[in-house]
Amino acid sequence: MDKKNEKNNNLADIQWFPGHMAKAKRIISENLPLVDMAVELLDARIIKSSSSPLLQDLLGKKPKIIVLNKADLANNSITSLWIKHYQLNNIVAVAVDAINGKGIKNFIRLVADKTSFLNKKSTMKGRKIRKPRLMILGIPNVGKSSLINRLAGNVRVKTENRPGVTRAKQWVNVEHQFDLLDMPGILMPKISTQEIGMKLALTGAINDEVYDRESVTTYLLDFLNSRYQENLFARYNIKDISPFATTSEIFQIIGKKRGSLLKGGKIDSENLCRLIISDFRAGKFGKISLDFPPSI
Ligand code: G4P
Repeated sequence: MDKKNEKNNNLADIQWFPGHMAKAKRIISENLPLVDMAVELLDARIIKSSSSPLLQDLLGKKPKIIVLNKADLANNSITSLWIKHYQLNNIVAVAVDAINGKGIKNFIRLVADKTSFLNKKSTMKGRKIRKPRLMILGIPNVGKSSLINRLAGNVRVKTENRPGVTRAKQWVNVEHQFDLLDMPGILMPKISTQEIGMKLALTGAINDEVYDRESVTTYLLDFLNSRYQENLFARYNIKDISPFATTSEIFQIIGKKRGSLLKGGKIDSENLCRLIISDFRAGKFGKISLDFPPSI
């Protein structure tokens, strides 16, 4: 993903290239009318920050199901609270791990439940019953391709032509239950606050080249130090430290422990920030959620 700006501290300033946005929009507007239901894919660690406020406008009345992906990296209790929150708002949401397949069966079952009305509608209108068609939409790096691959299994369906469609579309037949468009819709995240930008950067939704790593690392260390101090200290074997140590002191200690030093013994900040962010992405601090449902 490209951005206009150089590396910058103000993530809210990041602008998407108009060309990329136009292409992403075109793919969605061309394909959305072909499907019966949308799958909104969110990152279970940043459920609020990874949702795109634009989607609802694009969907109109089209039904959707929410998939909370990367649930293996998120706090289970918080994910469950989010699912309850959606239930209270009459939205079906399901947690999955697209890499290991956890939650996939549940997702397929929920899609079957939620699309069964289509068959009823077709029967009532005397139309032939067909499998429902779905499309996945989500921000970059949320796991769209991984989910499509997981649902496709080993059997990639050959290209089919659908009436009224100029270009051949690829559809993945998922367990004879529904057809999934082999091309996901890319939504641009809305970086309305600096905090949302930090969370998007941490989880890899924003290209690593455009944000300031030190600010993002400081944000992460502050968050971990206040909410997951045990996990943070355990990861870097930090002992004998005041529970009130500042982020900057903790950063220095991690640097020394990890030997991330420049000549003369100064901390190699750039390298250390990379390491800490990469540890977060790999789940080395445990299962951590950065966004909480409104009631918490
Ligand atoms: P996208 O199409 O939405 O852009 O996302 P994509 O599927 O390419 O996935 C982005 C990254 O997230 C990949 O990691 C992928 O392996 C990882 N990922 C996707 N789903 C899950 C999940 O449920 N759990 C976990 N832990 N990771 C997930 P990558 O490091 O960019 O690539 P790779 O080295 O894994 O191939």
